[in-house]
Amino acid sequence: MADRGEFSSRFGFLMAAAGSAIGLGNIWGFPTNAASNGGAAFLLVYLVLVFGLAWPALMAELIIGRHAQANAVRALQGLARGPFTRRLGTFVGFAGILTVSLILSFYAIIGGWMLAWAVEAPARLLGLDAVSSWLRTDAVPRNALFDALFMGLTILIIMAGVRNGIEKWGTRLMPSLILILLCLIAYVLTLEGAMDGLAAYLIPDFSEALDPQLIINALGQAFFSLSLGVGTMLIYGSYISQRESLSTVGWMVAALDTSFAFLAGLLILPAMYVALASGVEIFDADGALVAGPGLIVVVLPALFDTMGGAGGFISFAFFILMSIAALTSSISMLEVPVAYVVETRGISRHRATLGIGMLITVISLTIVANFGVLFDSVVTLTTEYSQPLLGLFFAVFVGWIWHRKGVLEELQKGHAGVEHTLFWKWWPFYIRYICPLAILAVYVQLLRG
Ligand code: PHE
Repeated sequence: MADRGEFSSRFGFLMAAAGSAIGLGNIWGFPTNAASNGGAAFLLVYLVLVFGLAWPALMAELIIGRHAQANAVRALQGLARGPFTRRLGTFVGFAGILTVSLILSFYAIIGGWMLAWAVEAPARLLGLDAVSSWLRTDAVPRNALFDALFMGLTILIIMAGVRNGIEKWGTRLMPSLILILLCLIAYVLTLEGAMDGLAAYLIPDFSEALDPQLIINALGQAFFSLSLGVGTMLIYGSYISQRESLSTVGWMVAALDTSFAFLAGLLILPAMYVALASGVEIFDADGALVAGPGLIVVVLPALFDTMGGAGGFISFAFFILMSIAALTSSISMLEVPVAYVVETRGISRHRATLGIGMLITVISLTIVANFGVLFDSVVTLTTEYSQPLLGLFFAVFVGWIWHRKGVLEELQKGHAGVEHTLFWKWWPFYIRYICPLAILAVYVQLLRG
């Protein structure tokens, strides 16, 4: 199986998997969700859901992947016990491939905005005013160009494969990401208004904590943030060495992702309130905090503008941060359909990446051209409806379809003494009963609107 590729070290895997998990969802989704849903109350609910549901589900994907040494479709088919579960496996695997391809098609648009804004700051500092104002204006030609550029970068990295592409760029980009984030936090916290932002983020309003909508949002956020349900973590799991303890690395990925989301909140919310203190509007007509794309490309640039010359540098650092975070996630998305095609159709990685990458670029450009009609629906369909449901099926595969012995054997690889851990005692029960039931309960709420 040497030709499938494998991460060369634990650090390499961690950076790649954390790179997939840490993305726009952490920096853009988590803080605004928290701010609009009762601040630290959301944080608490989120923590409960991440460690109670999303992390066990992450483990399910990693375990299936490493056991099967294959893409999601083949892996799930391999666990089947009969024709029905085999068909179910095929269906879930393909639904994951389709979902993640659609996620990439909207993610690349936002990734493109981040690139455009990252280029804008140097253009302005160099006095290229016409270029700068073109880059600032939200228009189809700009969005299409940078969308394609972002997809191009994603394609280039995936073409290079697991070690020379995913791992190499993960280990380079992730540490820089953390460094830039810490510097930005340190700077923003010194500005006027920052403490109000901290208060909005960290003082809990428990009256909202049990609101079903809050729980639905938090679960969706947790699944999106850990890249679950679509076969991404499964495929990364399939590249982990047999000598590695899955329960340890899985735990680390969840902890890294959650810490990063928490840190991002320390940047974004203070930054928004600093913007407010400088006269930028951060609440919409209903009095809710501006969330979604509007936050990043409207409020923050307005804030950077108020900072004079320094604003240019900060803006550059911030949007480079966003672009890197987006890129280490987008590569993990593209890897899912590419691995499938390479492994089942015998097409070279090079050609498969180019072909699928171009197809997704075309879908993405179609969304750019029909943004108002398509964007929100694609986001909702993939992240709110599809991801948790597919996550539920992964749990069912591990808890009910796969023979328990196989699951336990996989856990023992690379982890002497795992039988004595709490994880070993609880997780199999958990993934069989608690995870499916809890996801289902939240899902029913979602369907009932
Ligand atoms: N986890 C990524 C983020 O937070 C998004 C993602 C979703 C990546 C699904 C891969 C698969 O931005």
